[in-house]
Amino acid sequence: MSCGWPISASIQYQDPTMSAPPLPAPELGEPYLLTPGPLTTAYSVKQAMLLDWGSWDDDFRAMTRDLRSRLLAMIDNDGTYDCVPIQGSGSYCVEAMLGSFVPRDGKVLVLANGAYGLRAAQTLDYLGRAYELLDKGDYLPPRGAEVAQILAGDPAITHIMAIHCETSSGILNPIQEIAEATHNAGRKLLIDSMSAFGALPLDPFKLNCAAFVSSANKCIEGVPGFGFVIARKDEITASKGNSHSLALDIHAQWTTMEKTGQWRYTPPTHAVAAFLHALDLHEAEGGVPARGARYTKNRDVMVAGMRDLGFETLLDDRWLSPIIVTFFCPADPNFTFQGFYDAMKARGFIIYPGKLTVVDSFRIGVIGQMDEHVMRRVVDAARDALNDMNVKSAAPPSAALEERKKLAA
Ligand SMILES: Cc1ncc(COP(=O)(O)O)c(C=O)c1O
Repeated sequence: MSCGWPISASIQYQDPTMSAPPLPAPELGEPYLLTPGPLTTAYSVKQAMLLDWGSWDDDFRAMTRDLRSRLLAMIDNDGTYDCVPIQGSGSYCVEAMLGSFVPRDGKVLVLANGAYGLRAAQTLDYLGRAYELLDKGDYLPPRGAEVAQILAGDPAITHIMAIHCETSSGILNPIQEIAEATHNAGRKLLIDSMSAFGALPLDPFKLNCAAFVSSANKCIEGVPGFGFVIARKDEITASKGNSHSLALDIHAQWTTMEKTGQWRYTPPTHAVAAFLHALDLHEAEGGVPARGARYTKNRDVMVAGMRDLGFETLLDDRWLSPIIVTFFCPADPNFTFQGFYDAMKARGFIIYPGKLTVVDSFRIGVIGQMDEHVMRRVVDAARDALNDMNVKSAAPPSAALEERKKLAA
């Protein structure tokens, strides 16, 4: 069911090779969020929240049905998988997935190369589930061969937890080779695709994954308020009684939704209405390929411009996701992150601090309602910000380049 809001003509471009007309700027003049969610949304997505919906009313139940079936259509479902929305942020969905699908006597191999992998391990600590952590540090990718080796040595491991795009560095992890190693060893794969689903291909049939999660305020470009778990129905059925938590029990949420069409407990009605409209826009743009193409163009234009200014990316091109990019902070003593942040914000762009532990960095997200035209202005703003700060060179310290060699090795 569509929410009935008009779709802006300017975003109905289908051919990713054609340069599209500019997307409208934020209607109320607020800065662009160059952050990986919450992100800049279309004005019409915000307008879709102007109505109030009764949580048990037929209209809202139809919206919930629609939300679930349209997400399942994005994976070309044949009835194998089902979609269970969960109130809260992305971390609630990760916790629901781990608590529901990993039995109490299960053991998880957590593949970490940044904050979100480590958060999954911390979640398992809270849940009291056994796990082994493969911690690759700030960004080095977990490889299929390493996963295969660990699985061969530890038959107690039942599940692998992988992060699709590790948003803390922006690396696109090699999910296909991780999936193959998992499948070959006869274990079950759980994926956090929070910042990737909707823009990057994710075929759970090809990956043989038991379940994956994402959230409303990432690549579908909705507003925060809920996330969703897409899981094999047989896994959902088998998860009965596993969960440590009443509110995050996927089996219980699914059973109620199947029986009554309702969410257990207060649903984020406005966020659901916004999301349905965001799905309209996603479809009108041309679905995952077109959304991914726009974000890729955003990244390419922004990264090329920043490199022209002398900035260096943490990752080389092979690993750069079209979601968010980490840059090293310049070595110039006049550069401070706060000064750069303030100068960018004054020009209409909110950037993101870095999360590297070894060297100073910052991040620029390329997802949300923005396009290559905006990205060119981001680069202009960065140039002006450097001038404001009297930074002569954006080149990073040599320690940063040494760090980067580890990835090439
Ligand atoms: C890969 C990944 N996992 C988990 C999360 C946590 O989501 P939230 O902050 O919505 O709880 C995020 C947030 O950006 C993320 O990018």
